[in-house]
Amino acid sequence: MKFFIDTANIEDIREANSLGVLAGVTTNPSLVAKEGVSFHERLKEITAEVEGSVSAEVISEDAEGMIKEGKELAAIAPNITVKVPMTLEGLKAVKAFSDLNIKTNVTLVFSANQALLAARAGATYVSPFLGRLDDIGHNGVELIAQISEIFDRHAIDTEIIAASVRHPVHVTEAAMHGAHIATVPFKVFSQIVKHPLTDQGIEKFLNDWNNQK
Ligand code: E4P
Repeated sequence: MKFFIDTANIEDIREANSLGVLAGVTTNPSLVAKEGVSFHERLKEITAEVEGSVSAEVISEDAEGMIKEGKELAAIAPNITVKVPMTLEGLKAVKAFSDLNIKTNVTLVFSANQALLAARAGATYVSPFLGRLDDIGHNGVELIAQISEIFDRHAIDTEIIAASVRHPVHVTEAAMHGAHIATVPFKVFSQIVKHPLTDQGIEKFLNDWNNQK
């Protein structure tokens, strides 16, 4: 499983990229709004920093509007992936983008059937939202397992991005259940780097080194 970072914050993206593990970035309108910057300018900065896929979401609700917006976003840099919501209009747009060789990430996926439809429309990635499913008493990781089994059984090459990742257990479980990618907020990156026994071990090694006879 590869790692994307789920943020529009350029400092966090730079810090995560310096770890050498970053394969891409996902943004969404809420994350961009938090930054209070021009969306297109921020996408230029992100795509200059990160070589991998950078997901930029359309806000139109009709296919025609999504296609227009998506073409403008895709023109910003070759590594832009157009993020499209999982709706009927979204599927039409995904098909059009696929015909134009523009990569897509179908977002707000909450069922295996939605993932299968998105894949058949030509999506490069599908994003099932773990945390938001858990929030309403469903099992987000179980959805990853279902989608993974269906894609494997039918030789579908659309990649699964585990999204709405809220804590370290989500990361491990997404990897174990077949997600190709987890898109992870910076806070979760910081959490998964650490282990209390690592910190204790370093402290003991340093103490022993400093107190040697
Ligand atoms: C994914 O692409 C979304 O940007 C994101 O993971 C949503 O996460 P949230 O449910 O924590 O807002």
